[in-house]
Amino acid sequence: MQSYRLEEFGGIKKLAMRVEAVPQPGPHQIVVRVRATSLNRRDTMILNGTYPLTPRSGIIPLSDGAGEVVAIGDAVTRVAVGDRVTGSYFARWVDGRMHPGVVDQLGCTLDGMLSEYALLDEQSAVRLPDHLSWQEAATFTCAGLTAWSALTGAEIPKPGQWVLTIGSGGVALFALQFARLAGCRVAAVTSRAEKAERLRALGADLVFTTAETPEWGTKLREATGGIDLVVETGGPATFAQSLIASTLYGRIVLLTVQDQHGKSVEIPGAVYQRSLVTIGRLFVGSRSALEAMLAAVATHRLKPVIDRVFPFAEAREAYRHFQLGDVFGKVVIDGA
Ligand SMILES: NC(=O)c1ccc[n+]([C@@H]2O[C@H](COP(=O)([O-])OP(=O)(O)OC[C@H]3O[C@@H](n4cnc5c(N)ncnc54)[C@H](OP(=O)(O)O)[C@@H]3O)[C@@H](O)[C@H]2O)c1
Repeated sequence: MQSYRLEEFGGIKKLAMRVEAVPQPGPHQIVVRVRATSLNRRDTMILNGTYPLTPRSGIIPLSDGAGEVVAIGDAVTRVAVGDRVTGSYFARWVDGRMHPGVVDQLGCTLDGMLSEYALLDEQSAVRLPDHLSWQEAATFTCAGLTAWSALTGAEIPKPGQWVLTIGSGGVALFALQFARLAGCRVAAVTSRAEKAERLRALGADLVFTTAETPEWGTKLREATGGIDLVVETGGPATFAQSLIASTLYGRIVLLTVQDQHGKSVEIPGAVYQRSLVTIGRLFVGSRSALEAMLAAVATHRLKPVIDRVFPFAEAREAYRHFQLGDVFGKVVIDGA
């Protein structure tokens, strides 16, 4: 089979195609014929050696992928040959709270999905909704679940409340879509004016462009009466404005603490002193949250937004395109 492996870290050149034997499942393992994968910001951090969790050398990258089960171990009960599945980001985190014992991640400390076949523990496999194509089904594991956890993990925003999303990456667009499912109103900010119309078409009620309206926090607060929940994917570049935009008892789910240059989020004391905003953190989500999200996705026949699809042989090009940052939705790589 064909696999990509990261034998060293430090850039796209380190992503090497290898030909190796198809894995055989152990008693509790399954083999998945991978039909599509997708990229997340963390995959570029793993590639560049800047991810906070140290990746295993020689890893098959990518947490996100979809495919069909082609072989199962003797003791497997959760899935059968022929099932359409994806893998859970934290392969050992089934439910409850995250703790150090379940920190292993696909495509980081465990082999991931950028391969013709993937070997998964049956506990990390989750069945996919029927209405999704392979390319669509390969986009939910990290960005989708992160957005779902931001919306549903603590206090779920009520219908009619305002949710703010930042940018046009995978997490932001899933957050926009899930907020609409919850009956919320959505404000979105983007650094690129040409994306405003697409954000509106996806359901954003209000869109601000950061270059045209650098003080968008005040404008949003005036227009909405205050944002109830911010899905903060912008980090240091947007956090202060997100805080200004928030309602008195608003919540900010802070998903990005540092930017790619190492600059950290700073809390502007003068603003925060006048605010009772709760700042929350989360890390993607558990398998049970993934199952809950995919049940909602199936019920509402929700489709992800795909920016671009690359052939398997052009995985490096996909990384390059993703790293440039000018995306609208998910960057997908077809299976081998
Ligand atoms: N804590 C967690 O569990 C968790 C999980 C997943 C992701 N995250 C974090 O959430 C953030 C979003 O992740 P993502 O995978 O959705 O996509 P992403 O690639 O980081 O987001 C891309 C979007 O960010 C905006 N952007 C502005 N300037 C950029 C630049 N210089 N480089 C890249 N993007 C830029 C762009 O939107 P506009 O063009 O519209 O401005 C772009 O479409 C990342 O920082 C990621 O690390 C955290």
